[in-house]
Formats: sequence, C-alpha cells, structure tokens
Amino acid sequence: MTSEQPFRPSVISPEHPLHPALTAAVELARSAGRLLLAHLERSARGLNYKRSASDIVTEADVLSEELILSGLKARGLEYSVVAEESAAEAIDLQQEAVWLVDPLDGTTNFASGLPFFSVSIALWLEGKPAVGVVHDVVRNQTYWALAGCGAWLDDGRRLHVSQQATLSRSVIGTGFPFDRLSNRDNNLAEFAYLAPRLRGIRRHGSAALDQALVAAGRLDAFWEAKLMPWDWGAGVLLVKEAGGRVTDYKGAEWSGRARGLVVSNGLIHDELLEAIHTARREAGLDEGHVAV
Ligand code: IPD
Ligand code: CA
Ligand code: CA
Repeated sequence: MTSEQPFRPSVISPEHPLHPALTAAVELARSAGRLLLAHLERSARGLNYKRSASDIVTEADVLSEELILSGLKARGLEYSVVAEESAAEAIDLQQEAVWLVDPLDGTTNFASGLPFFSVSIALWLEGKPAVGVVHDVVRNQTYWALAGCGAWLDDGRRLHVSQQATLSRSVIGTGFPFDRLSNRDNNLAEFAYLAPRLRGIRRHGSAALDQALVAAGRLDAFWEAKLMPWDWGAGVLLVKEAGGRVTDYKGAEWSGRARGLVVSNGLIHDELLEAIHTARREAGLDEGHVAV
C-alpha cells in the first residue's frame, strides 16, 4: 500500500470550519480504497450472507470500515457514527453531527471481481448534509462536496449536472432492493416501464457512485428505493452542490425519511417522477410510497 497523500484542496480555505472533516473524509476514503484494491483478487473469500442471498459482506467491507472509523478517531473527529457494518437498528440523522459511512458500496461487484465499487463518507449536521465524499476506487477518482461550496472531482475540477432536458434521450441509473424475491415492490415495474423509454438504463451496482456520476453529468439521473443512509449520505450532497435535484418519489425535497430516492439534473426530474408514478400505478403499487 502506498503512503497516504495529504488532500489540500486549493478551492477550500484551510480556515473553513469543515476543512478538517473534509480532508479526513477524502484521505480516509482513498486509504480505504487502497485497502479494498489490495483485497480484490481474494474478494470472494470470507464472504458472509446478511438479510438475503443477494445481501453479502466480505472481510474487506469490515476491514475498510475499521480503517475509516479508527482514522476518524485518530484525528479527533469522533462524532456519532452510522457505518454499515456496525450500525444499530435505530438511526438518528437529526443529531448535532453524524458520520454516515459505507466502507464498500458495491460489495456484489467487488466479490465477483467487477471493477465498479466505491467508498462513501458523509458528515451530516442537524439533519442536513455538510460534507460528502464518494471515492471511485478502481478509477482512483474522488468526488467531494461541501455544503454551499460546490461539488468537485479530485483536486479541483468543478462538477455540474448534465444539460439533458428530455427523458427519452437520457441515460439513467437504478438498482434493486435486497428483498426483491420476497417483496413485489422491488423496482421491476419501474424498470420495465422506463427501460424502453430511455436512451440507456444502467444497473451499475454502487448507488453511491451512481449519485456521484449524476453530479458529474455522466448519468442524467438515478433512482432507487430502500437504500440506507450510508448509501445516499454523500451522494445527495454531491448532486445538490452540482446543481441537481434530490427528492423522494413524491417529489418532496430529500430529508432522509422516505424510502424512494430520485436524483437528477433537475431538467428531467418531473418527467422521471411521472414515469415512476405511471409504472407504479399500472403495477397496482402506491405511486409515492414504497412498501418495505
Ligand atoms: C448496495 C449497492 C447497490 C444497491 C443496493 C445497495 P452495498 O450497497 O449500492 O448498488 O442496489 O441497494 O445495498 O451492499 O454494496 O454496500
Ligand atoms: Ca451500500
Ligand atoms: Ca456496503
């Protein structure tokens, strides 16, 4: 493993009160990424099942989480933590300060040796995202955002959402929930309705990275239901700071309480919501409320 490179973004003043949290999140996400890469070739080893046959965890998920949490502690940034592999049942986002950590987003890809997975670290203050970092491990690209200061790639390329204004010309990402075998509300109705109506639909397998790709204008939108706070803690801030729109399925601004997330460039948002509603209505599902 190479030694840690300090992250000193020229676009954020070192005096900014969140500078230590931002630099910690970027540096630790990159370190965790190097750890994951070192484990990639033996990734299927030490694999365990969680809530279903499609919900897995590897040794690397746990080691990555340990690296991030001990790194935050070592830097004295010991706010409350909600990290996927050690999270309690009850999650309170309204706390003064809470880290939301996904140590490996895209475990299924990772365990199969597929090169699309990420590390996501966010800091939320009193129910609002303040710092968001998504590190694309294989491409070694770090997407980051600071509330009110924009969204950026690596050391200073400003991110903007795409300009695509027509749904049928859009390339959109999505994903399917862990309970897709046992629950009819599993996104297949929305997928079947939208797939023929878009330029492209993608199921990449890392929700955090998909949101970063929307922020970068590489995807025009992304939607998924039943994600957890560590899946969207950073991504929603990236999209907002890149000029996009972030809502639930009803079109209400994202607060973290709803189960269905829609992020987009803003221009196609209403059209996408309408399509999701139509698909759900035709399938006999509640338009705006996802059944858990
Ligand atoms: C999963 C990925 C996947 C999404 C799932 C998530 P994990 O996270 O983000 O793309 O469809 O809903 O649970 O388990 O790999 O961290
Ligand atoms: Ca995840
Ligand atoms: Ca994970």
